Amino acid sequence: MSSMSSYSSSSSLLLFTTTTLLALLLCSQLQLSIAKEQYLEFVVIDAISPIITHHSNKQLTPSMQIKEASVTRLCRRHSIMTVNGQFPGPAVEVSEGDSLMVRVTNRGGYNVTVHWHGVRQMRTGWSDGPEFVTQCPIRPGGSYTYRFTVAGQEGTLWWHAHSSWLRATVHGALLIRPRAGVSAYPFNDAAGKPPAREIPILLGEWWDMNPIDVVRTATRTGAAPNISDALTVNGQPGDLYKCSSNGTTTFPVKSGETNLLRFINAALNTELFVSLAGHTMTVVGADASYTKPYATSVLMIAPGQTTDVLVTFDQPPGRYYLAARAYASAQGVPFDNTTTTAIFDYGGGGSSSTSPAMPTLPAYNDTPTATSFTTSLRGLRKAELPSRVDESLFFTVGVGLFNCSGGQSCGGPNNTRFAASINNVSFVLPSTTSILQAHYGGGGSPASTGSVFTADFPANPPVAFDYTAQNVSRALWQPVPGTKVYRLKYGAAVQVVLQGTNIFAAENHPIHLHGYDFYILAEGFGNFDAATDTAKFNLDDPPMRNTVAVPVNGWAVIRFVADNPGVWLMHCHLDVHITWGLAMAFLVDDGVGELQSLEAPPADLPIC
Ligand code: C2O
Repeated sequence: MSSMSSYSSSSSLLLFTTTTLLALLLCSQLQLSIAKEQYLEFVVIDAISPIITHHSNKQLTPSMQIKEASVTRLCRRHSIMTVNGQFPGPAVEVSEGDSLMVRVTNRGGYNVTVHWHGVRQMRTGWSDGPEFVTQCPIRPGGSYTYRFTVAGQEGTLWWHAHSSWLRATVHGALLIRPRAGVSAYPFNDAAGKPPAREIPILLGEWWDMNPIDVVRTATRTGAAPNISDALTVNGQPGDLYKCSSNGTTTFPVKSGETNLLRFINAALNTELFVSLAGHTMTVVGADASYTKPYATSVLMIAPGQTTDVLVTFDQPPGRYYLAARAYASAQGVPFDNTTTTAIFDYGGGGSSSTSPAMPTLPAYNDTPTATSFTTSLRGLRKAELPSRVDESLFFTVGVGLFNCSGGQSCGGPNNTRFAASINNVSFVLPSTTSILQAHYGGGGSPASTGSVFTADFPANPPVAFDYTAQNVSRALWQPVPGTKVYRLKYGAAVQVVLQGTNIFAAENHPIHLHGYDFYILAEGFGNFDAATDTAKFNLDDPPMRNTVAVPVNGWAVIRFVADNPGVWLMHCHLDVHITWGLAMAFLVDDGVGELQSLEAPPADLPIC
């Protein structure tokens, strides 16, 4: 199963999303084995603000781009934040080893940053993007150039705004192909050929309200933010929503071909089940790491995760629905229960009177299906992981409630405000500088950084309790706000047990770590028990990812080597939870070797 033949890389790529995914690259792909430098221009446009009167730079914001930032969804016209007027944003296509320079110009009305989700950013933490963690936001009118190399990763990643809830519409695919002449996909079709087409599929969430207003209202009132009004495939809700059929995303494919579908869950708050009528999907990669081929009729993709699958179009010519809807693991918590669809068409004609075949999707609360999918993934190759563990950490992850204090609006349950935490610390972003700047400028000494952050994030929860009990004592529901980092020595082998809690409502949390890929050694339900669960660790071929969906009322164990100096955020990729504080950061020290230290900050790093 693990040994598959390879073939030399192909230069053919066809993007079938007609209006949405336009490659920005000027250079042709994959002709040479040498790594390339690519320069891209991202202009963030916000048609809500009167950008024509404020910004008259005709070169960067021709009126056409502004028009494109106005879209009609669910029967109404909306102005949304976009990159270059495109929604979803432009796909960035690179070969492994390429260096990117992306100049982001903010022509909108909100602060913005761009995060390169899953890119390791070796020594280039200044280009990682989380607002107030590695950089100050790019103010309206400002610009910043992200510079980094994509190395040692192949598959599908993505980029998104990392400021407030802008990523609802400011996101796009980052496609990493093997470098021609150096490596190749470790999979092929039945005839031994590469997949005939590659199709990026961004799953998203749509709000009729401006998403920034949704989160601002929630932050003001302390109540939960509104749920979304639609789920989307490449920006379109599809046939099952009002006024949406004309825009339904259609993928024209060819009978008999094998295609590579590159799924990205770009939704803000919804984990998704995905299925394609009549076709088996063979998973070959996740989060830009290859997996052993795994054939399945349903995927579960959490926000932040990507999944690459091969599909052979071997059914009777026709039209087949791709459908996605929520995996909603929390009991009694409202969620968007709608279903988005797109059409795979090899019927030889766009319009047909018979409606496409519809797949069966699991029930919203089908935790066994979600779990069996995620735990079936295995790394393609044997893991290279140290057997020693230098830092053994135990982090509780979950929601909570702040008791009401004077002057605040407390719209949460029983006069509280919603909160979330890791080890009972509810993460608070700095506001006067970024953590990385404070660390770099202050040499990391407590005296100079203490006003921005402290390096005392706890290795264990302050109190040990029955984390997944039916009734966790109310005394344990209230976290403590703080800006704390956990400091790691360069090269330390780090293991983190991520333990979900049943405080307020247990839920599957997609925990994402910036700057690293990690191995997922094991997952389980209930409380992690080192005495019995350590024996379940897969040290042979664990999957490598950047986002782990920690089972509802359960745990996951991850391991990585701290070989990338900088400040690296770890957080729940449900934006509602990061908003409430379900985050922390690792501060990784420089090593002593030549290429073991953080680079100097670029001259154009935005100032706060
Ligand atoms: Cu994709 Cu910190 O996020």
